[in-house]
Amino acid sequence: MARRPSDKRDGANSKPKASKPAHGAARGGSKVDAPAAAKASGRRKSAEFPVVGIGASAGGIEALTRLFEAMPADSGMAFVIILHLDPTRESQLAHLLGQHTEMPVAEIADGMAIEPNHVYVIAPDSSLTVERGRLRLKEPAEPRGHRHPVDVLFAALANDQQERAICIVLSGTGRNGTEGLKEVKAQGGCVLVQDPETARFDGMPRSAIAAKLDDHVLAPEDMPKFLLRYIRHAYVAAPHAIDESTADGDSPLDPILALLRVRCGHDFRHYKRSTLLRRVHRRMGLANHEAVDDYTDLLRTNPAEMDALVKDLMISVTRFFRDPEAWETLDKTVLASLVAERNSDAPIRLWAPGCATGEEAYSLAMLLTERAEAAQKQFQIKIFATDSQDDNLKLARAGVYPEAAVSAIPPDRLRRFFDKLDGTYEIKKELRELVVFAQHNLLREPPFSRIDLITCRNLLIYLEPQAQKRVLALLHFGLREGGYLFLGSAETVGVHHDLFEIVSKKWRIYRRLGPTRHDLVNFPLLPGPTRPAHADGLPRLPASRRLVLPKLRNGRFSTASPPPPY
Ligand SMILES: C[S@@+](CC[C@H](N)C(=O)[O-])C[C@H]1O[C@@H](n2cnc3c(N)ncnc32)[C@H](O)[C@@H]1O
Repeated sequence: MARRPSDKRDGANSKPKASKPAHGAARGGSKVDAPAAAKASGRRKSAEFPVVGIGASAGGIEALTRLFEAMPADSGMAFVIILHLDPTRESQLAHLLGQHTEMPVAEIADGMAIEPNHVYVIAPDSSLTVERGRLRLKEPAEPRGHRHPVDVLFAALANDQQERAICIVLSGTGRNGTEGLKEVKAQGGCVLVQDPETARFDGMPRSAIAAKLDDHVLAPEDMPKFLLRYIRHAYVAAPHAIDESTADGDSPLDPILALLRVRCGHDFRHYKRSTLLRRVHRRMGLANHEAVDDYTDLLRTNPAEMDALVKDLMISVTRFFRDPEAWETLDKTVLASLVAERNSDAPIRLWAPGCATGEEAYSLAMLLTERAEAAQKQFQIKIFATDSQDDNLKLARAGVYPEAAVSAIPPDRLRRFFDKLDGTYEIKKELRELVVFAQHNLLREPPFSRIDLITCRNLLIYLEPQAQKRVLALLHFGLREGGYLFLGSAETVGVHHDLFEIVSKKWRIYRRLGPTRHDLVNFPLLPGPTRPAHADGLPRLPASRRLVLPKLRNGRFSTASPPPPY
């Protein structure tokens, strides 16, 4: 039986020693070995202790006071705080906080190394990032009123600390922090949000909760108790030592994956085991379970935990023009030639599988519209944007994004394609009408056909090599002859050199070679229905949104099937 963390030590008012890594084999599950963790630590160049980023604005001083009065001075964590207020009040923060904690409170100077059991506050009017365990101060790039310093800090912490990143959103107005939290979740970090009922200003907490980025919603004074327990969990204390082997050779993941398959209709058997294992351990850390079997029991009885795990396993981070240089290359090569070759009024068909919350599909729509306008041509543009998660698609269809999500879009383009609402930006109707969003599982459902360009970015990386290979054959099938494929910057066409030629090696742009290869398309990759039966309450797609796809004949596709109606 695995050792469970001692509850006595976790009391908010107790004074534990600096954090020690938790270790020991988990009951019936994956094991953690501390010496291996120490050896593996070469991989990490950032701080070897948890660094907690805290963002707040109006009402933040009160919330910070409540949090630090409950936090022991020797927790083993470091705290980096951004209070997004006017510069005069920011400048008093170090002094004010010093009255509520025994930890040293320092105003940040550029290049300062982060140390455990210290509190760092940002100097007024600067932008803060973290690089390899050091604090970096920069001149803010945006003018006052358009800055998102909390987003900048959270994203930097996530990239530097990865699964060890912990970010907290406290009282404040607006939506600052929400965009940065997406990166924290993508890296496997932890997000605490102040319970809006306890916040003087609930804008920032409610924005993070509405985006479903919170791991726990707590009053500030309850956060230390959770954190002290969480940082001792193997997921944070020894992340590099988690492996899947057990004495009897069975995988502890198997019962969990079976549960997700049967209860939620999500089949993760073709996803990379290492990523799944890390994500399951993250949930175990958040739920305070050391043993995989205990956590599996929790899943059996707690549908909310099941939903949270599925969401964590389907990493949905995205942004407009992600990897801007790649998009520039796509625009200048693929989109320019598509527009030049096609006559006015001709159809142009694009497909973005794994579109998450829509930013990628809208990025395509913007570039293609601009190209068409420059060439004074009008096309029947149809962008099919699909994802296996309905939650994502709801956000995508709404097409409303916080200011931080659009901050890298040049002002002309922003004005042309977005309406500014109260603190958010809404995609204009004319652009939304080019995109059809629909739920579609790439591993289970037939592809679209006769597509000019498929952007399938940052989805293949989560799949096992064999599944990647089969999906790529499927994408070849979905493209018209000579159609283009745009992958994520860590993805390639792998062994399928005979199916695709390289257009840009650096930016993973390819072109379909040869005729349709029915012999390679063996479908579906996964058996069974895409979604559980309707008894589970999931809404059916309205008829207008349902996809009409090529017919399957004997488990293979036929191009002779009637074309989709778009
Ligand atoms: C990391 S996001 C990538 C978003 C976007 N393509 C980008 O690169 O910014 C991966 C997306 O793939 C979706 N996904 C994962 N497995 C899928 C599957 N089998 N079929 C369709 N979508 C899937 C997830 O729901 C998630 O939204």
